[in-house]
Amino acid sequence: MLKGKNVLLGISGSIAAYKSAVLCRELIKKGAHVKVVMTPDAVGFITPLTLSTLSKNPVYSEYSDAKTGEWNNHVELAKWADFFLLAPATQNTIAKMANGICDNLLLAAYFSMQNKTFFAPAMDLDMFKHPSNQQNIKRLEGFDNVLIPSESGELASGLVGEGRMAEVESIIKAISSEDSSWVGKKVVITAGPTYEAIDPVRFIGNHSSGKMGFALAEKVLNKGAEVILISGPTQLTAPNGAQLIKVKSAGEMLAAVRGNKANLYICAAAVADYTVAKPANQKIKKKTEDLSLELTPTVDILAEIGAHKKKGDFVVGFALETNNELENAQTKMERKNCDMMVLNSLRDNGAGFGGDNNKTTILHKDNNVVDFELKSKSAVAQDIIDSIQLKWLG
Ligand code: CTP
Repeated sequence: MLKGKNVLLGISGSIAAYKSAVLCRELIKKGAHVKVVMTPDAVGFITPLTLSTLSKNPVYSEYSDAKTGEWNNHVELAKWADFFLLAPATQNTIAKMANGICDNLLLAAYFSMQNKTFFAPAMDLDMFKHPSNQQNIKRLEGFDNVLIPSESGELASGLVGEGRMAEVESIIKAISSEDSSWVGKKVVITAGPTYEAIDPVRFIGNHSSGKMGFALAEKVLNKGAEVILISGPTQLTAPNGAQLIKVKSAGEMLAAVRGNKANLYICAAAVADYTVAKPANQKIKKKTEDLSLELTPTVDILAEIGAHKKKGDFVVGFALETNNELENAQTKMERKNCDMMVLNSLRDNGAGFGGDNNKTTILHKDNNVVDFELKSKSAVAQDIIDSIQLKWLG
């Protein structure tokens, strides 16, 4: 995707500018052509010599070359670029871009851009959180610029929190995705089985392997979105870049979902409908007489998400059925207020729990129903993501 692309790399004055050298090198490695434009302040953080060596092009930071008097044409730079990538984007430069202030070459190049602009904010925690900064970021997104969200972590000031520039790997991923409509979106995926404890050594579980949910997480990450994967016990390794929250019971899964607000929810987990009312504290000893367990219903996580979804959110559920498949899935979609339902039938050979393949039918709220062939779970995940993209992001 980056091969042969002309990238105008903008650098504004932040300590995170040291990462721009690695970013520049990665862009070149991926086959992009890179020109660098810096604000006058950025030159104090990283030398133009480093960047011109890495980019194999002159670096621009002034309107004209003081020695030769040659004019650096911002319009030409903007026309040349397939996109403008501002990393790091400081509070000052973001504010100027959001408010039409053009007092350096970098800003002049930005205001001359016809193609897409990506920006990766970098600043201290309190500056980042300040309402004026948040408003400016929103404003820039409103102008169709793409935010590459900053990450939480240790900041140059010693404070810990949000505001750290996204890692080079995340920036490359965000600008490489075919389209940027997923960038900045938060996606919660539930996966795997749940285990409801009977006593300290026994539980009620099911055969879900988690493969479908983990495959979905990978596809969503490839789109450049942020993924929170809330999974019951599985043998699987979470894809790189996903935030994995491990849970055991339906109650723990519910708490994790409640603690993580998202724009898109995909509930692929096989959640127990009942839990043991009073799990024993000690191992239950064998006796000769019958043993009864009292079960009590769990909260339906998907139904709760559906009931509280906000405008613009998208909610996807799964339905595993053995009979009256379409009708049951349709009713489930309505009852749980989902936008889309992925139906698996246990009557389809080779599909369902445990295996590597799946056969699905996707139902949409607008009555559109699409049948898919038996495919690998990875290919099914791609079909699901494509369907979500079509209905949710247009
Ligand atoms: N689900 C959930 N929380 C529950 C039960 C189910 O989030 N406590 C979600 C599943 O992740 C799935 C969807 O609801 O996306 C449908 O699950 P399914 O077991 O097929 O449906 P149920 O509502 O449990 O209905 P039934 O078992 O009667 O078919």
